[in-house]
Amino acid sequence: MTEITTNYLEQYDAAADADKFPLVRRWMDTEPLPFFKELREKRPILVTPVCILLARFDDVTEVLNMPKVFTVELYVAKMGDYLMAHDDDALHTREKSLMQGMLNRDDLPQVRAMVANIAKTILDGADGGIEIVNDYCRMVPATLVQDYFGLTGADRKDLIEWSYWNQYDNFHNHPFDLMTEEKRQYIIDHHKAVSEHLVKYIVELMARRLLAVKAEQAKNLLFSLWYLACKLVRQLMGKKNDTLTDDIVTRMLRSSFPDAVDFDIKRVGINAGGLLIGAIETTSQAVAQVIQYLLDSPEWLNKAVNAAHLDDPKDFDAIVWEALRFVPIAPYLFRKTASEYTVGKGTARETTISPGTYILPVTQSAMFDPLIFENPDDFIPDRNWYHYFHFGFGSHECLGRYVGMVMIPEMVRQVLLKPGIKASGSIDYKEGPFPEQYELSWDK
Ligand code: HEM
Repeated sequence: MTEITTNYLEQYDAAADADKFPLVRRWMDTEPLPFFKELREKRPILVTPVCILLARFDDVTEVLNMPKVFTVELYVAKMGDYLMAHDDDALHTREKSLMQGMLNRDDLPQVRAMVANIAKTILDGADGGIEIVNDYCRMVPATLVQDYFGLTGADRKDLIEWSYWNQYDNFHNHPFDLMTEEKRQYIIDHHKAVSEHLVKYIVELMARRLLAVKAEQAKNLLFSLWYLACKLVRQLMGKKNDTLTDDIVTRMLRSSFPDAVDFDIKRVGINAGGLLIGAIETTSQAVAQVIQYLLDSPEWLNKAVNAAHLDDPKDFDAIVWEALRFVPIAPYLFRKTASEYTVGKGTARETTISPGTYILPVTQSAMFDPLIFENPDDFIPDRNWYHYFHFGFGSHECLGRYVGMVMIPEMVRQVLLKPGIKASGSIDYKEGPFPEQYELSWDK
């Protein structure tokens, strides 16, 4: 093992208690890789005054595999009764599996083609230059949310804003996100405000779509009169009648479950909202960061551009996933301990964790753990997919991961297919957690 030359832990140990976590946070945000390397080698379980960091692959996976011990309690206040805020209970199992079935993996070739088409249309209309974050990284998933998930009838700018404030408050407004109280409240206020619009929209969407589904079913039965009456009433109310194609919301409403399954229209609506919230800002961040990473690495840019032209996307996608290891959407996940547990039992790093402790399984560090990742500092595109944490790990692994697995690389691919693609600066985060602005141009 090569000797490391950094001295983060010396600085950490010498700092006053109140300064310790701010130091850790700064290093995670600004120089994560050397900091995590020193942690893995010298103090793989770092106990700070705010939370405990786990830097090794084995500890990260151990903790994420025990949802009742290391819980998502921090999600509860932010997400209400959505499946993501439930740990290994009936609702989580039931709704996650139902939604996995609705997001049929057989759709994926079509989904990739839809993404390619949406992406190409935006880029071809851009006249050789684009502010990629708002006009592309957010706009493509927002369009997919309409066209594939079926959240129609809202402006894409609204969908983007609803996802944004939910993601900001859910994932970047916790005790280990350092900011002023005013800023915390500002994020909560925006989350509340957009939630009111989102709930109103979902209720309207459910009514509109349920009517269309019932109408479709009525056509085949003697209920056609009722259908016509409904249609008439809606017309009299000045509302447009939906015609049905196939999308996820329609699939959910076309499926009828007995009461014992406990998946009524309200649960369908909550899960439709979850699809929107999950899809946009995550994809946007991953795509913007991977594009920047590749544009900044001439050797890999060249290889990626060559792979982008191949019919089989396998080589291209592998480059994207390896790039995301260096620039993930977040370096860690977070959990709260429900009962005492000893991590790393029988090793020198063994640490007993008390109930109520915040834990950061540092997934980016785990993706550089040399016990699992050979030559972790090298860019090696054909690594074992199962070792990546891009879509989480364990019980809460991402519901949308298969969609993300085609959407993210296809969006990056379409950009790299533009001849002479280049950036005029770097991503501007405007002091927040998400990419906000990034100017790209290419040869017309
Ligand atoms: C494409 C649409 C997407 C949807 C509908 C979606 C939805 C979800 C849902 C519902 C969960 C919680 C699952 C559970 O608690 O069992 C989840 C978890 C997660 N998602 Fe996604 N997601 C999407 C895209 C993405 C993307 C693009 C990324 C990253 C590049 C991502 C990263 C994650 C991660 C890391 C978790 C785990 C969170 C944790 O363990 O606390 N998701 N996603």
